[in-house]
Amino acid sequence: MSRVLTGIQSSGVPHLGNILGAIEPAIELSQKHESLLFIADLHAITTIKNAKDLKENTLATAATWIAFGLNTKKNILYRQSDIPQVTELMWYLNCITPYPMLANAHSFKDKANKLSDVNTGLFTYPVLMAADIILYDANIVPVGKDQIQHLEITRDIAKKFNYLFGETFVIPTSKTRNTHMIIPGTDGKKMSKSYGNYINILLPEKELKKQIMSIQTDSKGLDESKNPSSCNIFNIYKLIASNTEIKQMEQNYINGGYGYGHAKKELLQLILKEYANQRLIFNDLMLNPNKIEKELKLGAKKASKIANSVLKRVKTKIGLMT
Ligand code: ADP
Ligand code: TRP
Repeated sequence: MSRVLTGIQSSGVPHLGNILGAIEPAIELSQKHESLLFIADLHAITTIKNAKDLKENTLATAATWIAFGLNTKKNILYRQSDIPQVTELMWYLNCITPYPMLANAHSFKDKANKLSDVNTGLFTYPVLMAADIILYDANIVPVGKDQIQHLEITRDIAKKFNYLFGETFVIPTSKTRNTHMIIPGTDGKKMSKSYGNYINILLPEKELKKQIMSIQTDSKGLDESKNPSSCNIFNIYKLIASNTEIKQMEQNYINGGYGYGHAKKELLQLILKEYANQRLIFNDLMLNPNKIEKELKLGAKKASKIANSVLKRVKTKIGLMT
């Protein structure tokens, strides 16, 4: 059976884009395949330098996976840093990774141009990601389009190791999600933590309302007929609503006498209704972080078992273990 593995950085509280674009599809896959899902806190510290934020984001990310129905008994949910074997493997991989391969990675070049803190962790980020994947003999790695090059790097590193030391690693393949699943943010651009245009559907109602109220619209008046397909509110609404609800809102836009304020209110009500259960579970977990820790400990125990056996194989091949 194919083993699926994916990680999400704990660089913020997962937003609607992360949930619809990454978390829900991964949970769906986990119902058919043995899955390892982890919170990439070691990757997150390439940018986050605040212990409180890191801890909170890690808990919120884990709570989101659980709230959206991940079966932690059947699958493995863990925190990347709970398995230090991954940083050991990263060193071995560092020693066979050509420097230019990392220097040419798009994601590194983008970050190096944008960020003031261009640390070595950002540079070797793809090697840690390769270690994340091949430490667990993963076959399938669901990722967003922006991560495809990192998967190519992973494959190159694994193949090089196998060539140098003999068959050791499974060569993973990436599985990208449909392009129509790029969730737009409050300004119509791709929803992203880095653009500050996100909607956190699990936050308390007051904060959620504030985010929804910030959705940008044109300045058409209440009575005017409006174009649903170019409206940011409608484009988010239609990702969550039923066909009947979508048709109804579309008609309201076209008819006129229906303002953007009405549409925002409807979007808020829809989110509260559709995600009522997930919001309850999420809030309960965030108030009881020990419950989250318990799940993460259980996951770490299972992940560690796989990691130890693969690492033993690696060390024997390199000549570090007899
Ligand atoms: P962000 O852009 O908010 O920093 P990340 O890069 O941490 O998000 O993405 C985590 C996961 O969520 C990735 O698998 C990514 O493809 C997915 N994702 C993020 N934003 C969106 C979006 N707007 N639409 C669809 N998927 C998204
Ligand atoms: N770099 C990924 C992202 O930002 C997160 C990640 C870290 C990951 N390690 C991984 C994803 C291993 C898949 C497999 O989205």
